Amino acid sequence: MANLIVVGAQWGDEGKGKVVDILSERFDVVARYQGGNTAGHTVVVGEDKIVLHLVPSGILRKGKICVLGNGVVIDLGELIHEMDQLERLHVRFEDHFFISRRAHLVLPYHKVLDVAHEERAAKKIGTTGRGIGPAYVDKMARVGIRIGDLHEPGLFRDRLQHNLLEKRAQFPENPALATLDVEQIFGGHRKHYERIRGFLVDSAQILDRLIREGKHVLFEGAQGTLLDVDLGTYPYVTSSSATAGGACTGTGVSPKRIDGILGISKAYTTRVGEGPFPTELTDALGESVRIRGQEFGATTGRPRRTGWFDAVGIRYAARVNGLDALALMKLDVLDELDPIQVCTAYRYRGDLLTEFPNESNILAECQPVYETLPGWRQSTVGTLEEAKLPPACRSYIRHLETLVGVPMALISTGPRRDQTIIRPGPLLDSWGLV
Ligand code: IMP
Repeated sequence: MANLIVVGAQWGDEGKGKVVDILSERFDVVARYQGGNTAGHTVVVGEDKIVLHLVPSGILRKGKICVLGNGVVIDLGELIHEMDQLERLHVRFEDHFFISRRAHLVLPYHKVLDVAHEERAAKKIGTTGRGIGPAYVDKMARVGIRIGDLHEPGLFRDRLQHNLLEKRAQFPENPALATLDVEQIFGGHRKHYERIRGFLVDSAQILDRLIREGKHVLFEGAQGTLLDVDLGTYPYVTSSSATAGGACTGTGVSPKRIDGILGISKAYTTRVGEGPFPTELTDALGESVRIRGQEFGATTGRPRRTGWFDAVGIRYAARVNGLDALALMKLDVLDELDPIQVCTAYRYRGDLLTEFPNESNILAECQPVYETLPGWRQSTVGTLEEAKLPPACRSYIRHLETLVGVPMALISTGPRRDQTIIRPGPLLDSWGLV
């Protein structure tokens, strides 16, 4: 068994939720390491459907420990709403849900600023408007308020007041900031604190102890590599470290403790929000992928932009994360498409680029160089054995592996947990997954 990082290899929404859901059965602990309540993972429990944004879905499995690491930013009202919904379904949190005291709070002024920045921006990012960016800005500017600070009401209130006055001074014309009331935010958060205080811990210490006891941790990132604040398509990124390195800084677990890194990629590509996307399909084909793949945000409902598989981007993700393997998701969405295209390089002002460029403005000018492969025009939905996939589909998978240089360990053929091909092999064996 192993401590494994699961990381998105594209622009998020790759299907990490399903993979984490499958794998969490074999792990003792699921730890979230960055992001806030933007990523949505819909879980179905009996007749009920809940969208989880913060609480790892591992909470639904009996006996599993779930941790929100220090790298996560927490909108406390939203977290409590999720916990309440889960408790109504008889999910128990005591003794197996922990929140890092070091995690920063997303406060009402962060949401106001998120929306205001987008409205004023010359080039919009297309954020989720959940206050994530401004909360991380405060963290980096060393004026953020951490969830553990709620322990000292006087200190919390002073910081809150100071921050709100500062924001108002920075944006004097913002009417929403003017209407925010310190006492109301303070009172609300004190109440919330009473609800969650029993879950607050030094999560780095707890994770270290669990690992020493021989427990196995699954580290779950939000968003994906190309939305990472350092390594993504800056400035069209989220404000945290979504790549594998973030798992260590976002939980306080040493890199020496990590045994494997699994990347998640769709069999095609999607992106939400603004920013360059070389393989985007803006035509009817793109629309049909969107419909077939149900590519609408679980959080904002926004239609996702769709396009062909981009091997340049995945190769880059494989390198910066050190991917040992990939899970290839939503293969069945390609069932009707013929031919299928795969981007192998970019053409930039006459040059052939085989490496992902550092600058978004260069990426925006890149033209994809495609290889055309035959489609399979046959349903693969729910296929459980690779040998039963149509030959053209098997060739597609093998070709992607060759192009990105990383083996596919899991292949998803439908939304359900059981609609998955798990490829046995020494790697999965060493991770204790087969
Ligand atoms: P923010 O994280 O709300 O600041 O948004 C920054 C960028 O990341 C925008 O392009 C969002 O659409 C994108 N983004 C944020 N969360 C997600 C997610 O869960 N899936 C996909 N894209 C996301």
